[in-house]
Amino acid sequence: PSTLKAAGECKGIMMGNVLRQQQIANVEHVALLAEEFNYLTPENATKWMHLQPERGVFDYGKADEIVNFAQKNKIKVKGHCLVWHSQLPQWVDDITDPDELKTVMETHIAQVMGHFKGRMYAWDVVNEAIKTDTDAGDGNPRMRKTVFQRLLGDEYIDMAFKMARKQDPDVKLYYNDYSIDANNDKADYLYEMLKGMVQRGVPIDGVGFQMHIGTPNNIATGAEVAKNMQRIADLGLEIIISEMDINLCGGRNEAWQQALYHDITLACAEQPACSAITFWGLNDGSSWLNSWEGAGCKTEKPMPLLFDNKYQKKQTYEEVINAL
Ligand code: XIL
Repeated sequence: PSTLKAAGECKGIMMGNVLRQQQIANVEHVALLAEEFNYLTPENATKWMHLQPERGVFDYGKADEIVNFAQKNKIKVKGHCLVWHSQLPQWVDDITDPDELKTVMETHIAQVMGHFKGRMYAWDVVNEAIKTDTDAGDGNPRMRKTVFQRLLGDEYIDMAFKMARKQDPDVKLYYNDYSIDANNDKADYLYEMLKGMVQRGVPIDGVGFQMHIGTPNNIATGAEVAKNMQRIADLGLEIIISEMDINLCGGRNEAWQQALYHDITLACAEQPACSAITFWGLNDGSSWLNSWEGAGCKTEKPMPLLFDNKYQKKQTYEEVINAL
């Protein structure tokens, strides 16, 4: 196959990328995107701070442009994300009454899912609810103390999925997180959390492994990814790779990066429950890691993606396509 999406189709895997509204004007950028990919996540436009910056004030302009671009090009879209502690407007963080927060959460989910109904293939319902060892605060992985967790308890996750399912019986609903792909406590914690959700009959379709690999997130081998995917598949859930990039920060070399792109793609290709791979950026120049203050990347070039600054295919591209 001559494109990622054609190669993915042979394995039943959608191949995805991200888009910012300002990039739509870049003809070279979007032409390559439409040529290679059949799945899209708005990089920021469907986050709470952009959709409902003030209470009751919804702004769908930028997100609609992205979704319209996708529809025109027959690309499926995943909304990202309904409930998350980050890129959340201050007015939500300031809420102190549990009932009020529950109403606000339900209203946000209902309005946003209602607006995009029929145009979204999937939604990330809850993002990054579990802490890692390296997150600020004490110690071991456990629920992140977001405004949602503090006021509603761990049950806010079940609640959010039920609210989302009520809005749309057809759309896929995912839990999304990072550093859940290697052998580590966070991955184990996630597995137990999912098992509980499935036992309680919570309407969840699957899990997104963000797969931001390299400093400061975990390094996962292909074997570790395969193992984590398998036990989640055994729960009857779907797995997607939702935000993949493998950065060179911390002195990593390209051979290491290429091998990992191959092995992780292969883990998805060999797992029937793995249905999509989305890369978090089209070319190295547009990667979020270039401006992110994440440890280890400040003075280095992350170069984490499949295309270079001139939109030429890198060896990482070849490794991915060879693994499909
Ligand atoms: C990032 C975007 O890429 C940046 O443009 C933005 O400034 C911050 O958020 N995990 C997620 C994504 O779930 O939403 C984040 O996206 C990257 C980490």
